Amino acid sequence: MNATKVAVVTGTAQGIGRRAAEVLGERSYALVLTDVQSCAQTLSSLDALRTEAIEIPGDIADEETARRVAQAALTAFGRADVLVNNAGISHISPAEQISAADFQRVQNVNLLGPFLMCREIGRIMLQQRSGSIINIASIAGLLGIADRAAYNASKHGLIGLTRTLAAEWGGRGVRVNAVCPGWVKTPMDVAPQKAGLYTDADITGRVPMGRFATPDDIASAIAFLADSSQSGFINGHTLSVDGGWFADGSWKAYGCGAAEGCSALGCQRKNTPASGGMLIVIE
Ligand SMILES: NC(=O)c1ccc[n+]([C@@H]2O[C@H](COP(=O)([O-])OP(=O)(O)OC[C@H]3O[C@@H](n4cnc5c(N)ncnc54)[C@H](O)[C@@H]3O)[C@@H](O)[C@H]2O)c1
Repeated sequence: MNATKVAVVTGTAQGIGRRAAEVLGERSYALVLTDVQSCAQTLSSLDALRTEAIEIPGDIADEETARRVAQAALTAFGRADVLVNNAGISHISPAEQISAADFQRVQNVNLLGPFLMCREIGRIMLQQRSGSIINIASIAGLLGIADRAAYNASKHGLIGLTRTLAAEWGGRGVRVNAVCPGWVKTPMDVAPQKAGLYTDADITGRVPMGRFATPDDIASAIAFLADSSQSGFINGHTLSVDGGWFADGSWKAYGCGAAEGCSALGCQRKNTPASGGMLIVIE
């Protein structure tokens, strides 16, 4: 084994999970990948980095997948230092139209799956008395966002799981944190945009920094939380990587940080800069 540290990452065929695997590979972790889709492209970029990596295909909502992934990590590398629970599915629908089956499937993939992975990989980490688990939640785990009842419930649950495991396992050497991305340009964003559910401008007009997150923005936060030399006393934290979305309670005239202004409905940034220079004192 060349690498000293081993990272297990779920949902690594594309998007944030693929980039997270690559960034961890660049930092000399050996990788265990899992996804329902083929991770061939991710394996090929890891190969170019000369990173040791194996792929264990499977659905994370299935209890057997977590068991097989944990066993494969032990067989191939003898340990597991980092777990990134990234695989997830989105569901956009008015609450009154969500079927029980759809609601349940979202919880199974976005909450039960990460729990099972935490349980199986967590056992290895607890035995080692060291490890870092990073659950990819969302700003939708911190805030209500309309038309996403199933997704938001799952991500709020994932943050609850993160805090609970941080409390339960922190004293035994295993840190558990969540990363909460804002909107990221990945296939998860492309599909609803194609269906006309929102536009780029809707998002950039709401983000103080005026842009989408990139998979690199999220992967850098993951790598930071993975590395105990940088984040060794951070446990149970929710790290928003959202350009300020969660922090911003301003109304629309102040809300858009797009450098050139934007075309979002109600965005008055071009006409009404947030720092308009007027001081009003009310006595
Ligand atoms: N894209 C965003 O704007 C955004 C924002 C906030 C949070 N997130 C979260 O980040 C994570 C990654 O999102 P993304 O944008 O890269 O999505 P994506 O759809 O591009 O990629 C998700 C990956 O997970 C895999 N996957 C889905 N269901 C699975 C299952 N049951 N078992 C195994 N693998 C499965 C998919 O095959 C895919 O490769 C998700 O948890 C998502 O909720 C994304």
